[in-house]
Amino acid sequence: MDNIPHIPVLKNEVLNIFKNLREGILIDCTLGFGGHSEAILKTHPRIKVIGIDKDKDARDFSKTRLTSFKNRFLCESGGFGEVLPKLLDQYQEKVCGVLADIGVSSYQLDTPSRGFGFESDRLDMRMDISNNLDAEKILKNYSQRELIRVFSDFGELREAKKIANLIIQLREHNTLILDSAKSFSQWLKTHFKNPKILPLVYQALRIEVNQELKELDDLLKSVKKLKKAILCIISFHSLEDRAIKNCFKDYAKSCICPEDAMRCECGNNHEIGRIITKKPIIATSYELKHNSRAKCAKLRAFEFY
Ligand SMILES: C[S@@+](CC[C@H](N)C(=O)[O-])C[C@H]1O[C@@H](n2cnc3c(N)ncnc32)[C@H](O)[C@@H]1O
Repeated sequence: MDNIPHIPVLKNEVLNIFKNLREGILIDCTLGFGGHSEAILKTHPRIKVIGIDKDKDARDFSKTRLTSFKNRFLCESGGFGEVLPKLLDQYQEKVCGVLADIGVSSYQLDTPSRGFGFESDRLDMRMDISNNLDAEKILKNYSQRELIRVFSDFGELREAKKIANLIIQLREHNTLILDSAKSFSQWLKTHFKNPKILPLVYQALRIEVNQELKELDDLLKSVKKLKKAILCIISFHSLEDRAIKNCFKDYAKSCICPEDAMRCECGNNHEIGRIITKKPIIATSYELKHNSRAKCAKLRAFEFY
């Protein structure tokens, strides 16, 4: 297929994590443009893939791309936080793998009308365009308190209060600046010389629009049910990577007694699996040369017993 608008990151590393799978269903929570799903379907002839995505453009593309796999590929729409638990209930022990490559696709970043880029004519950032909330609405309507929460929780910005106050003042004088990503980026740059602030403000807005941390939290809770299955998650920022790392540690913990307990009384048999990746896997210099967007990708994997 020509003009595939997204290069899958860490593709070989994902295949390596799933290399021992024989048969069953693998759920690709972030189908995107089907790069990972296609590689898995080609490598594992007895595995079926169910792909989930919030983005209709991505689903439509992948349905065409993966059509030759016939009934070995199924596509579901919606957020994985909601869809994955339903699929796990439906297919139970048939599920042998779950993959999530969380974040935005290159298509979403590079399509100006989707309003993800700093230079877009819109401030949108919705993965699911039927969602009511977009970045412009946040900037135009959220209270000072809500804006501070977004910038400090999702951008970890020390300047959260200052940014929120300036946005509130801006609303009174020139709301036009909040109509496009281009003008909002320019405005931010004139107020904050630190170049890290612009991407962190955008990251915070995107996480809020798409409820990204809530979706990840729901995924991490629902996979607890998996048995004899492998979970592989690729994340792109430290907030997500931290949540994944801590969750895997909890799931691999045998003793769940309080830390100050004098002796173990829990039975010391609570681990539900093992961490496959002691340290996160990152892109090789070869991959980075061909796809700079793999720069922040971190892959962690867990095997459920
Ligand atoms: C980095 S891309 C995945 C690319 C894919 N692995 C490929 O090879 O083409 C992330 C995709 O996941 C989708 N996505 C992100 N969070 C989601 C969520 N919570 N529920 C469903 N889809 C989500 C985005 O719309 C986007 O298409």
